Amino acid sequence: MRGLARIGVIRGLAPALGALLAGAALAAPQSAAPQSAVPERLAPCVACHGSGTSEAEGVPSLGGQQADYVVTQLFQFREKQREASPMNDIAAGFSDDDLRAYADAVATLPPPAWSGPAADPALVARAQALVAKHQCNSCHGADLAGRDAIPRIRAQREEYLAQALAAYKSNARPGYDPAMNEVAQDLSDADIKDLAAYVSRL
Ligand code: HEC
Ligand code: HEC
Repeated sequence: MRGLARIGVIRGLAPALGALLAGAALAAPQSAAPQSAVPERLAPCVACHGSGTSEAEGVPSLGGQQADYVVTQLFQFREKQREASPMNDIAAGFSDDDLRAYADAVATLPPPAWSGPAADPALVARAQALVAKHQCNSCHGADLAGRDAIPRIRAQREEYLAQALAAYKSNARPGYDPAMNEVAQDLSDADIKDLAAYVSRL
């Protein structure tokens, strides 16, 4: 039941990051960019990440990702709290305004969607039991599309999801909030495999 008590995940934010997210709420609304076009500033990013859906192993899809979540991760890359090449070098020179501008641009890219064969029913049953047990929906939303600073995970690349969960479990990846590190402690290798296979096929 730990997960439910921790829904206020923002409480663990570093003060500097909290100020960044709070400032965004006060910013003037931007005029809507055309949904089909890749924002100009993302040209170097989509070379690796794809324009919404990633085709590259180990590189996450960014389409439809929650902008507040992207701010937290670019912040963590810049501060080297989340260690991952090449993102630490890429984010090193970003100003706070850059973090927000890249995050808002990323969020306009079309979200990934699974287009392969449906997941095996036995896998679905096992994974849905894990999702219920660990209350993934209580934070990531009923459809796992995320909200605010909690990431969209549905239809993310399978090997990236598995890598992320393993990195939380080993604490190699400290979240901006410890929620995921706590959740992942109770996941076996088989659980991680099932969750990644299921969530990537949504
Ligand atoms: C050379 C390839 C490459 C380029 C260029 C690149 N990225 Fe990345 N990016 C990665 C990889 C690989 C990861 C996964 C890092 C990890 O966790 O191991 C990543 C992770 C991320 C994440 C975290 C996503 C998540 O779900 O947590 C964000 C956000 C991101 N990149 C944004 C950007 C932006 C914005 C740009 C352009 C300014 C960019 N990236 C350019 C390779 C790249
Ligand atoms: C108490 C709230 C909470 C619960 C419960 C929760 N998550 Fe998370 N999750 C988060 C937060 C917050 C993050 C971002 C942490 C960070 O900074 O890396 C996250 C990040 C993730 C990521 C990394 C996404 C990316 O793009 O890198 C994955 C994968 C994930 N969660 C899967 C799950 C799964 C599967 C479950 C259930 C087994 C779950 N989460 C349960 C709050 C939660």
